[in-house]
Parts: sequence; C-alpha cells; structure tokens
Amino acid sequence: MENFDFYNPVKILFGKGKIAELGKHIQKDAKILVTYGGGSIKKNGVYDQVMAALKGHKIVEFGGIEPNPHFETLMKAVEIVRNENIDFILAVGGGSVIDGTKFISAAAYFEGDEWDILAKRAPIAKAVDLGAVITLAATGSEMNSAGVVTKAATQEKLSFGSPLLFPKFSVLDPETTYSLPMRQITNGIVDAFVHVMEQYLTYNVNSPVQDRFAEGILLTLLEEGPKAIAAETPDYENRANLMWAATMALNGLIAMGVKSDWSTHMIGHELTAFHGIDHAVTLAIVLPGLLTKLKEQRGEKLLQYAERVWNITEGTDDERKTLAIQKTEEFFQSVGIKTRLGDHNVGQDSIDTISKRFIERGYVGMLPDVATSDVAGILESRL
Ligand code: NZQ
Ligand code: ZN
Repeated sequence: MENFDFYNPVKILFGKGKIAELGKHIQKDAKILVTYGGGSIKKNGVYDQVMAALKGHKIVEFGGIEPNPHFETLMKAVEIVRNENIDFILAVGGGSVIDGTKFISAAAYFEGDEWDILAKRAPIAKAVDLGAVITLAATGSEMNSAGVVTKAATQEKLSFGSPLLFPKFSVLDPETTYSLPMRQITNGIVDAFVHVMEQYLTYNVNSPVQDRFAEGILLTLLEEGPKAIAAETPDYENRANLMWAATMALNGLIAMGVKSDWSTHMIGHELTAFHGIDHAVTLAIVLPGLLTKLKEQRGEKLLQYAERVWNITEGTDDERKTLAIQKTEEFFQSVGIKTRLGDHNVGQDSIDTISKRFIERGYVGMLPDVATSDVAGILESRL
C-alpha cells in the first residue's frame, strides 16, 4: 500500500426528515445564499423543507444552475456573494448544484481571472463556507472537495478542488430522490459504479481493505440499482442504500493508498463538453473501450474483478477478462444506457477533435498506461 493522508471533515446528516435539522448547523447570524438548479426542488417539496429549516436566518436565493454547471451562470452568483456579503452558501440539488456552489464559494474571494481556478488549477486561499442537501445520488460531491465546471463559450469542461471546499455538512435524505426521473436514477448508478472502477481497477498494491470496500460498493450497486429501476414506487431502504453507495464511492476513502486513474472521466468530460451527453452516459461509453485496451496491463485487477464481482471463475485469463468487460457493458445497457458513440451521433470528426485536445493538454488520467495518443483508438473502438 502507498503512503497517504486521509482527511474528510464533512458531517453527514443521513435519513428521512434530516433536512429539518440543518438550521442547527449554520450560525444563527449568517447571511445565507441558497443555490439550486432548474426547479425540481420547488416541485418535490425539498425547497419548502429547506426554507422551513432555515426560518429565522437571512436568506438570498440563486436558482437556475444548469446540469454540467456553466462558469457564465455561476459568475452571476459570485457577484451576489460579493455584493450581499454572504457568509454561507447552501447548495440544494444534484452534483451540478453542489459543484457549482463549490466554484462560487472559491471564486468569491479569488483575485484575478476566476477561470484560472479551473484552467490553471490556481490555488484557493479562502472560500465561503458551504453546506449541501443532495437530491440525486451519483457524484459524491456531497462528501468530497472537488467540482467540475463547464465554460460554455469554449466548450471546456474542467475540474477543480481544494480542502477548503469540503461542505461543512451534507444532508442525505433518500426521500428527496423519489421524484427523480428514471434517466437520472440510471445515471446515478452508473456514475457511482465508474467512480469505484477509476479507483479500484488499476494495479494491485496489496490493499485488501480498500479492494473489498470497492467490491462491496460495486456489488451493492449491482443489487440495488436494478431494484430501483424495476420498482413501481420508490422503496426507502433501496434508495437509502443507493444514496450511501454513491457517497462512499467518491468521498476519498477507497482511494487511499491505491493507484487511481480517472482517464474514463477525463475522456467522458470531452464528450459532454462537445455533445452535451449526460456525464454517466459518457462513462458507460468509454470504460469498456479503456478496459479492453488495458487488458494486459491491468490484467491482475481485471481477473480479481471478474471473480469477486461477477463470479467468473472458468476459462482462460483472456476469456475471463473479456467476459468481465462484456458483463460490465451489459449492466450499463440493462439499466437503460446506450453505450456506443454511434447511438449518440458522435463520429470520427469529433474523435479527431477530442484526441487533438488531449495531445495539446499533454495528459489523460493519473496513470502512465493511458497516453494522449491512446484516446483516439479507445474512442474509435466505441463507434
Ligand atoms: O436542475 P434541477 O431542476 O434540480 O434538475 C436536475 C437536473 O435536471 C435533476 N434533479 C436532481 N435532483 C432531482 C432532480 N429531478 C427530480 N428530482 C430530484 N430529486 O436531475 C438533473 C441532473 O442533475 P445534475 O446535478 O446535473 O446531476 P448529477 O448529480 O449527476 O451531477 C452531474 C455533474 O456532476 C459532475 C459531472 O461532471 C456533472 O457536471 N461530477 C462531479 C463530481 C464531483 N464533484 O466529485 C464527480 C463526478 O464524476 C462528476 O464529474
Ligand atoms: Zn463521475
């Protein structure tokens, strides 16, 4: 196992009815900016619950943060934070609202071009305190310190992060997910699944605790995901288990001491930036191609994954690895995701553009086994 520092200060308020408690976790005299998305929270009662919990606090609102939040939109909220002397920002929504809020929090005190927080990974010296009420189990943003923001003008989707951007607390009430459309439930299952794969399906570093946590999250998603999709009415226990699985998939724990990759995400972000394809769908497209390309290098972990997650014990090494990748893709398809670029009208011209972008950038993920020159071939295998 490699050396690591583990730090995660996010207080988790988990369970039904927990939104009512959030007021206790914000200073009474704080002026709060409540941020949200396109309005789902006004239809499902979450907005009303949040406002009731914040009774007595000074509140300013900023709605309209779009999926894959735009820098341009978020800068309007940054102006509000600066002009209204906001002390605390409460994000209410999915990963886009929480990520957007992390950016607002970091940009408010930033001196210089705020896009440098993403483009140059400029260090963040000070940030506005933030909290979250998550309404979509997927990204883990509620318990990590990272975010992803898109500049619409240039079609760039980039990530950023700072220990100052951990939410002070996050409310995880599984009932908030009851109003999710099927497409977003599916997206959440697949996003969380691929988060685990980015941290688990790399190289053996003798980390049995992390490996079994990772496999436990994958198996939970494989069991609970299809139940959520088949259910005629939402089941509390099912939604609770999915929500906690998604949070645990990306709160840093399973990444400690192991080799993480993130190249599936990096390539996927380009598909969203250029084609607006949902984040999770991009991952379901890229991952099978990436694993096939790395069948030899990552063979040891692929065989472990095949046996422990898919119960594949027979056949040659190559047959078992191939079957595990095939079963992974079939799982994505079984929950309703179209896993080929052709299904989304993406062709060779776009692959060329994306490949060029990586070659100019000079890197893909965090491991040397995926080179910038590999991106074209991985995407071509997914046409
Ligand atoms: O905007 P509203 O009206 O709220 O509707 C949203 C949005 O249209 C809707 N929704 C959310 N909760 C709902 C609901 N509709 C009904 N009932 C509810 N309870 O769902 C739509 C999608 O929301 P969004 O927040 O975009 O989805 P998600 O949580 O999947 O977030 C995706 C974003 O997170 C980034 C992605 O790149 C993408 O930009 N990621 C962030 C990560 C992180 N911070 O660590 C890691 C991830 O890998 C990911 O990259
Ligand atoms: Zn993701």
